[in-house]
Amino acid sequence: MIKKIAVLTTGGDAPGMNAAIRSVVRYAVNQKLEVMGVFRGWWGLINEELKDFNHRSVSNIVNLGGTILKTGRCPEFQAEEGRARAYETIKKYAIDALVVIGGNGSFTAAHKFGREYNIPCIGIPASIDNDVNGIDYTIGSDTAINTALSAIDNIRDTSTSMERIFVVEVMGRDCGYIALSVALAGGCEDVIIPERKFDLEATCHDIVNGNLRGKVSWIIVVAEGAGSAPEIAKKITEMTGLETRQIVLGHIQRGGRPTAVSRDLALHLGKAAVDCLLAGEKDKAVGFTCGKIMTVDFETAIRRKEFNVDKWYSLIKALT
Ligand code: F6P
Repeated sequence: MIKKIAVLTTGGDAPGMNAAIRSVVRYAVNQKLEVMGVFRGWWGLINEELKDFNHRSVSNIVNLGGTILKTGRCPEFQAEEGRARAYETIKKYAIDALVVIGGNGSFTAAHKFGREYNIPCIGIPASIDNDVNGIDYTIGSDTAINTALSAIDNIRDTSTSMERIFVVEVMGRDCGYIALSVALAGGCEDVIIPERKFDLEATCHDIVNGNLRGKVSWIIVVAEGAGSAPEIAKKITEMTGLETRQIVLGHIQRGGRPTAVSRDLALHLGKAAVDCLLAGEKDKAVGFTCGKIMTVDFETAIRRKEFNVDKWYSLIKALT
């Protein structure tokens, strides 16, 4: 029977992680469980940086970006010795199960650790990349998309006024979800993503033809996993002879107040994760799929995310 759980955040921070922590802690305490917060992700388990959490530990955090537990990527946990030390901490503090808030890198680690040491682990998907397979949205992706969209809206003002081509690079690692979503919502002319082969020559041809018809401003979004804005902008200038500007939005996409969508998702999934542990489940992530809370095995969740890329791309082009 589970009496004590620990919660940690790992990988890149995502807006809404704090809401997820709040939900896990408050709901678990209300279910008469003991709860510990682990600091700095797996590193905190390896180095015994954890403490008892109660209701008050998570007061006034629901609206905050980042994570009060801190986070990071932990190469030590990839080594057998690191995981063995983490298990020692788990035994020492009599922790029965873990809630791991993070993206697919975090779930890969939790899958390995949970099976190796027979520790029930439930994942809560939180990453701006929306790259967790088998669920619709990760916590934080809506906020990041809105942040990037607001930047693109600003860029449109100057791009239209000065009649220029802009290449805007967004995050997402090897997933094109943020790029597709902002390109569609921002009315952008084209988008370059890792999941789809891109013909830059054809786009340059369209730009030149458009220019002859009087269409002189373009915004092309590029997902970081598909190329870099400076390089693509340089090539466009070489191929078209037209002035092109580039911008890399970078880490501003990771910060800021979580949107209602990111918070609500986090608050639902925090409770769902605790319910899963109480029901004896392990080695899986919770998430919404088609509007319902579901679980997905870690093994599936960490595969490359499947989503209908062509449908998004053809809509963007149909509206250009
Ligand atoms: O996974 C989230 C993410 O922001 C990716 O979109 C990006 O590739 C990466 O993290 C950046 O990592 P770091 O903050 O370590 O530079």
